[in-house]
Amino acid sequence: MKYQFPADFWWGSAASGPQTEGVIPGDGKGENVWDHWFKEAPELFFDQVGPAKVSQFYTRYPEYIQQMKATGHNSYRHSIQWSRLIPDGVGEVNQTAVDYYNKLIDEMLANGIEPFMNLYHFDMPWPLQEQGGWENYDVVTAFARYAEVCFELFGDRVKKWFTMNEPIVPVEAGYLGEFHYPQVVDMKRAALVGYHEALASAKAIAAYRKLGLSGEIGIILNLTPSYPRDAKNPADVKASQIADAFFNRSFLDPAILGTFPEELVTILKDLDMLPKTLNEADLAIIQDNTIDLLGINYYQPRRVKAKETPKGPQPFPTDYFDFYEWPERKMNPYRGWEIYEKGIYDSLINIKENYGNIRCFISENGMGVEGEGRFLEEGQIQDGYRIEFVKDHLKYVHQALSEGCNVLGYHMWTCMDNWSWLNAYKNRYGFISIDLANDGAATIKKSGEWFKQVATNNGFDD
Ligand code: BG6
Repeated sequence: MKYQFPADFWWGSAASGPQTEGVIPGDGKGENVWDHWFKEAPELFFDQVGPAKVSQFYTRYPEYIQQMKATGHNSYRHSIQWSRLIPDGVGEVNQTAVDYYNKLIDEMLANGIEPFMNLYHFDMPWPLQEQGGWENYDVVTAFARYAEVCFELFGDRVKKWFTMNEPIVPVEAGYLGEFHYPQVVDMKRAALVGYHEALASAKAIAAYRKLGLSGEIGIILNLTPSYPRDAKNPADVKASQIADAFFNRSFLDPAILGTFPEELVTILKDLDMLPKTLNEADLAIIQDNTIDLLGINYYQPRRVKAKETPKGPQPFPTDYFDFYEWPERKMNPYRGWEIYEKGIYDSLINIKENYGNIRCFISENGMGVEGEGRFLEEGQIQDGYRIEFVKDHLKYVHQALSEGCNVLGYHMWTCMDNWSWLNAYKNRYGFISIDLANDGAATIKKSGEWFKQVATNNGFDD
């Protein structure tokens, strides 16, 4: 069968500044939370590899842009690093950074690759983190000002802006799950962080609209569609809906509808956990500044059942549901995550049916592989498994398109293998492999060659 996509479909990949650029002497970059945390506790990071030792995109971007071209990209998402542009988060703008981002954007455009720019990818400037990070209302104001600086500097050429990548992750990983700084387990503080992120995003959108630039602005959300163990069991269905409200609708609703999910508000109210900074004026800003464009990151679903295990010592989202292992699940054998291709289709249909069919695209999808070096043959990673993974997901994107979903593109995570927070280089995701032992040398994998064909033909046969 032929899977043909529209002629102007966006083909490409995504990465972020902190995961690719490195810290180069003389770049004037300030410290962010990851730079600082690595200095304090390197043993927490896989193989003790920190954010300075990455693919050196900061200096090697012209070469990497050629690699993007060679793998069929017509668009690529990067993120501006707040701590690079405004080293302390609030003060002077770093001119060296302005020059770098200008050159990067111009180089992408000159090579026919549209820059999609994101403003926040888990990289809080350290001086702001010391003041509480997203727990501090002043950080919301600082973010809106940083966003405005970016729009003024680069908005003449960048036409696709995103306020944040996966804002649920700082909530989940930093305040519930202990795998991002500050490794706190506290649902009240988590709720405050999430609310401030949603507000900061809306304020950044307001700043963008005020400037009257021609372009669009959105947010990138990682959607984890929630499936009840038994769709005929009301308790399982209810549990699944609450999980959906916590993990998906908590950001989908304010971003697209301008309001927060009622179930979530009721739960937080009952627990006396509504953010202390909530006020009508800010809620009106959220209501008035919804997005133009949604980026959907899709990796895996959530399998949910009614609560069976005892509640923990303090309130927690999982007081309302339990996760379970679907007996029919298919696993990524190289990473331990469920692969459920239909989840990408269900997410797109959800946006069509419940969110006004807003313009959207797949902004991340990908297959992490631990120890991918074992697949190296004659100098190239033979990642047939990744080709199958992308193909199987693209088939569902194609189906969603044919059913009227407003899906405009597909970006993979990621272009070049990149550094991933505490996991560092443990899981490789790229179309292009990076040889860290050999000064970051880049080689296109088999999947990168395949993707070039797909992008060139706007589709594939299977
Ligand atoms: C995505 C994030 O959700 O997952 C990326 O946006 C991250 O920043 C990627 O690198 C992969 O994560 P991991 O833990 O599998 O290496």
